[in-house]
Amino acid sequence: MDRIIIRGGRPLNGRIAISGAKNAALTLMPCALLTDEILELQNLPRLADVDSFMHLLNQLGVSTMVKGAKGDGFSRTMTLKASDIASTVAPYDIVRKMRASILVLGPLLARAGEATVSLPGGCAIGNRPIDLHLKALQALGAEIELAAGYVKATAPEGGLTGGTISFPTVSVGATENALMAAVLARGTTVIENAAREPEITDLAQCLIAMGAEIEGLRSDTLTIHGKDRLHGAAYQVMPDRIEAGSYACAAMITGGALELANAREDSMHAILAGLKDAGGEVEILDNGIRVSANGATRPLSLSTAPFPAFPTDMQAQFMSMLALADGTSLLTETIFENRYMHVPELSRMGADIEVRGRSAVVRGVDHLVGAPVMATDLRASMSLVLAGLAARGETQVNRVYHLDRGYERLEEKLSAVGADIERVSDG
Ligand code: EPZ
Repeated sequence: MDRIIIRGGRPLNGRIAISGAKNAALTLMPCALLTDEILELQNLPRLADVDSFMHLLNQLGVSTMVKGAKGDGFSRTMTLKASDIASTVAPYDIVRKMRASILVLGPLLARAGEATVSLPGGCAIGNRPIDLHLKALQALGAEIELAAGYVKATAPEGGLTGGTISFPTVSVGATENALMAAVLARGTTVIENAAREPEITDLAQCLIAMGAEIEGLRSDTLTIHGKDRLHGAAYQVMPDRIEAGSYACAAMITGGALELANAREDSMHAILAGLKDAGGEVEILDNGIRVSANGATRPLSLSTAPFPAFPTDMQAQFMSMLALADGTSLLTETIFENRYMHVPELSRMGADIEVRGRSAVVRGVDHLVGAPVMATDLRASMSLVLAGLAARGETQVNRVYHLDRGYERLEEKLSAVGADIERVSDG
């Protein structure tokens, strides 16, 4: 298993190219199942989860080809073609490693009339049910059967039919599955209380490029007029707002200044507002955002919530930054039930954090001290890297496979802006 060694205390300065968004890529790739023509996805990030998803799609009969990197040498183009659907089964051994595999359920059902997907099960941050996904597909006429750890969805004769899907709570994945099923349903579908995350808008725009008819983009009500078929398209994956926010925290926590190339302000308002409230300087550039520390970090009171509010995927990274703030902060995690796994590890580095139910009280300390720490999930891993960048001495982050799921070439990007960081392989 690889680990990352960081010797902290160096301000980071320079330019980091932000890659394509993981959470957009993982919902754009299954769109290939909706047509027998070529879908070309540009600016796809080089991530473990993207590779896992590609292998799953290959098993379903999608032929894929990756073209070389362009520009900053990070982004790549993938072409995907589902001439025929060879299988409608997403097996346990793939789904258990990457729960986003559930996103083949809607498109497979729409294209092939059936889908059998292993139940994803829980993960470190919560039990991650899929009841909202299943209710959405039932509203379009699907029969749902649960057996032996799998969900089997079957469309009626003649295919799915449009309907009204009203989500009791906001779900990004369920909105994505509903969208990808509705575009080939007969008639009109209305999705109420839809998630409004930028990745949903990216998905809708890609589907529109493929010939879908969708109204209400960026709102919480999406109206889809189903089509008989979709055609191929070329689409550019949006930049990763969470990667950008994570490196912005790296600038703040090390007292440096970073230009986040390709980052887009319109997907990051709440993150940028949080950085400014914490005392950071934020400058919107022609093709990016510059974030600079500006003296001591100020404490914050923040609560995570669905977009456009402060994203749960940035909670752990902000916690590391606030561990060194000039005062006491209060963070409240309203989306997932167990997203404080980074707290015990940060405490081992000298942070003063007390978890009280869904909230964490973060009392700023003068400094952190490097230590061997354990990554538990993707964003928690990044919070430990951030703490290591600021800490005195050496930090060793173990189980970095978590990081590789969501951060492309992390140590290359950080060392290029002055970090003393290296990856050590035990293999
Ligand atoms: C997506 O997960 C993201 N993953 C997550 O990012 C992100 O944290 C989350 O949205 C919230 O923004 C991908 O896009 C691949 P949800 P998803 O359905 O779709 C409950 C990262 O670090 N729920 O919006 O699984 C659920 O338990 C990852 O990049 C149900 O109850 O999130 C949670 O409490 C982590 N029933 C809440 O809704 C359901 O059927 C929000 O989950 C579905 C969800």
